[in-house]
Amino acid sequence: MNVGIFLLYFLTVFQYVPLLRVANSLLMTGPKAYLTYAKSVQMGTQNGIEECKNQFAWERWNCPDSAVQLRGMRSATRETSFVHAISAAGVMHTLTRNCSQGDLGNCGCDVSKNGKIGGRGWLWGGCSDNVDFGERISKQYVDAQETGQDSRAAVNLHNNEAGRKAVKATMKRICRCHGMSESCSVKTCWTQLSDFRDVGHYLKEKHEQAQKLELDKKRMRAANNADNRGAIADAFRDIAKTELIYLEDSPDYCKKNATLGLHGTEGRECLQHGNDLTQWERRSCRRLCHDCGLKVEERRTEVASSCNCKFHWCCKVNCEDCSQVIVKHVCAKREGANGQGFRKRHRAPK
Ligand SMILES: *[C@@H]1O[C@H](CO)[C@@H](O)[C@H](O)[C@H]1NC(C)=O
Ligand SMILES: *[C@@H]1O[C@H](CO)[C@@H](O)[C@H](O)[C@H]1NC(C)=O
Repeated sequence: MNVGIFLLYFLTVFQYVPLLRVANSLLMTGPKAYLTYAKSVQMGTQNGIEECKNQFAWERWNCPDSAVQLRGMRSATRETSFVHAISAAGVMHTLTRNCSQGDLGNCGCDVSKNGKIGGRGWLWGGCSDNVDFGERISKQYVDAQETGQDSRAAVNLHNNEAGRKAVKATMKRICRCHGMSESCSVKTCWTQLSDFRDVGHYLKEKHEQAQKLELDKKRMRAANNADNRGAIADAFRDIAKTELIYLEDSPDYCKKNATLGLHGTEGRECLQHGNDLTQWERRSCRRLCHDCGLKVEERRTEVASSCNCKFHWCCKVNCEDCSQVIVKHVCAKREGANGQGFRKRHRAPK
């Protein structure tokens, strides 16, 4: 993506970023440094969205289509908490990798502990991923979009932080043996980022355990800003920085709602047959279609291909035209359904 498009993206997604304040607070200063990091920030955000789609592939809600859609997420539900966390984590992860790979001129591996004793039988050595760098830049870029003083902004910032904590929590120690014929008389170790997939799994669990923040309604209603902030601070007191939090209950993800940017599950594919399906995948048709008052429709598409090719000496290949049928299962409206039948059955959004 070129710089122009990115800037456009940045200005729409982060709507109101105090550009100069961000740029000036970086290690390198000026527009050039800003753009160097900005490209990685954009890549990292996109990685976050991709991983969100992977983690939620067979759920009713399956993430914003792109980073641009993040802008439309005006609420603070369990799901938006995940998006904030995974985006912030994606940015930190990408920038940390960039740093270790030497992509960024002014930053490299964290070697500050090298040579020191790390634990019983090992020394720090090698290239430890510089997460502090990634964390700092992620904070500066991602958190900059939360300019409000309200509870929603405070929740978003908290979840951004939880995402960054997840990157740290999933780091691994890698060791190498030295000495005569691998005797391991000397061992050096360094810390390394996990695959981003692992960060995704970790945050998916946090999503399931996310806590609803109960704000003191009376204090929140008071038009006094200071009182407002006090109520927010009180509510946060008992919540660990690693946990995801939300303010509003999730809407019904079965239903399409353009105002909320929700597609509903009509038209979604689900998995019905297959030997290597997980339990979770196997139930996808029930979760996405049946429990949402939809039926499962089999869609067959024919794909033409060559087959039974024979080689004739010499040198000709004759093939037959074959058509292969691909079967997919998709949620579709029931005939004559008016949406009454399932409303009682369907309660908790999943
Ligand atoms: C950082 O890494 C991402 C993904 O690995 C890559 O696309 C991007 O170009 C890198 N940034 C820089 C400045 O090289
Ligand atoms: C969409 O959601 C909004 C906010 O929850 C609600 O007021 C509205 O009625 C919904 N629209 C539809 C078509 O369900």
